[in-house]
Amino acid sequence: MIGTPLSSTAVKVLMLGSGELGKEVTIALQRFGVEVIAVDRYADAPAHQVAHHAEVIDMTDAEQVRAVIDKHKPHYVLPEIEAIATDALEDVERDGIAEVIPSAKAVSATLDRERIRRLADEELGLPTSPYLFAGSLDEMRRAATSIGFPCVVKPVMSSSGKGQSVLRGPDDVDAAWEAARTGARVNNDRVIVEGFVDFDYEITLLTVRAVDPATGKLTTYFCDPIGHRQVAGDYVESWQPQPMSQIAYGTARSVAARIATAMGDGETTGRGVFGVELFVKGDEVYFSEVSPRPHDTGLVTLATQRLSEFELHARAVLGLPVDTRAVSPGASAVIYGRHDAEAIKFAGVAQALADPSVDLRLFGKPESFAKRRMGVAVAIAPTTDVARQKASRAAELVQPLLADADEPSAPPTVAQDTVGVTRPPQPGPRPPMPPRGGPMGPGPMGGRPPMGRPGPGRPGPAGPAGPRPMAPPPPGAPGTPGPPQRPGPPV
Ligand SMILES: Nc1ncnc2c1ncn2[C@@H]1O[C@H](COP(=O)(O)OP(=O)(O)OP(=O)(O)O)[C@@H](O)[C@H]1O
Ligand SMILES: [Mg+2]
Repeated sequence: MIGTPLSSTAVKVLMLGSGELGKEVTIALQRFGVEVIAVDRYADAPAHQVAHHAEVIDMTDAEQVRAVIDKHKPHYVLPEIEAIATDALEDVERDGIAEVIPSAKAVSATLDRERIRRLADEELGLPTSPYLFAGSLDEMRRAATSIGFPCVVKPVMSSSGKGQSVLRGPDDVDAAWEAARTGARVNNDRVIVEGFVDFDYEITLLTVRAVDPATGKLTTYFCDPIGHRQVAGDYVESWQPQPMSQIAYGTARSVAARIATAMGDGETTGRGVFGVELFVKGDEVYFSEVSPRPHDTGLVTLATQRLSEFELHARAVLGLPVDTRAVSPGASAVIYGRHDAEAIKFAGVAQALADPSVDLRLFGKPESFAKRRMGVAVAIAPTTDVARQKASRAAELVQPLLADADEPSAPPTVAQDTVGVTRPPQPGPRPPMPPRGGPMGPGPMGGRPPMGRPGPGRPGPAGPAGPRPMAPPPPGAPGTPGPPQRPGPPV
């Protein structure tokens, strides 16, 4: 049952983190008459602006997290970011004060690369890149030599690509260690060394654990795979569907179902949307990581699905039935702030929306940074190629301006920045499309890639000395074919 917000019958959700993803979840919950408390570390965060109540606390302080939960007595606590005092969440769950979505265990396991990797590999037997952990420079040097070059070093506690490096050879080890130490969220000197996966493409497989109305039990549902492009650990564009071979798609679903199911207790705990990040090479699929919440690359679903990932999350949390059907191929492109300033303005919004298949979200963040995500353009089209062009074009047309800037006289005709630049459509094979998302059925596992144990080092290509920031090779570079395209269904 759902009551009336702001009354004694209200169903209450407390969001820990109030960014753009939390804002969309808040709106989705409010459409069901749920009372929402939005919490963040700064005032006027995006979800603060649409929630019933706004709170500003240090979310890494367990006492403050507990105090805000005790004050509002929510039924559900939804962590939206990783930097949260998870011990407070474990207490709240254990004491039965509120239900943590998807579970306190999932939230604490996924913010620690060591815990999630060990769970994925050692407990679930999922295919991963070879990996080792290290706690000192010497240990890391030995780990990198054992894994082989190129390899990737990441602090075990970090997100958005912070502190990550690709190591081309032994000369890169020292700098990578320093980068990891300075980029880590916590000062524990612990890193993961991963084999570099020379993937054909990477996907987010949005996986929903929700109650099946036919059985009353939790079931796994899938959205169509989302392809995306990352620059320096941040997503710049995404598209859906990403075509996959039937074998790769079968493996991806199996991997995603197993990791998402492991985030719960086998009963009704563990509900919600999971963003399962996978690397795909041919028919091989490697598990990379999982977000126990909607995923930033899934912003594309605002345009492509009948129910966006945010609406799916809201329904799953409330125990309501979901529908993961897609309505059109589409794409999203990020709009960056381009300025370090408060109260920026956006010109060119009308020009961007002149194409009727384009939509925009401007998040309303009070402060802009040059590389801060301030909005997103989404577009639908008969093919993802065309949708990508439309979304990128729209993102370029939206011009962030300083508060005292005048309206520009003419809309820009060229990209202002290299950020979010349109990648020309890539030629590619046309493999069969995956079946539409739906309840997970029994099915054969696809070809299993090597398991996550360090193998013999692969000979790496000779590259420039020094670790480079995490970024894919430039478009068209060998070994990085663009996403294969397919003709889409009629829109
Ligand atoms: N082992 C690997 N081999 C090849 N590329 C990798 C590897 N690990 C990471 N990458 C690339 O770097 C990107 C970011 O990596 P990862 O998702 O682990 O970082 P993150 O800091 O958790 O980022 P986010 O929080 O944005 O998801 C990946 O999406 C992929 O493009
Ligand atoms: Mg990631």
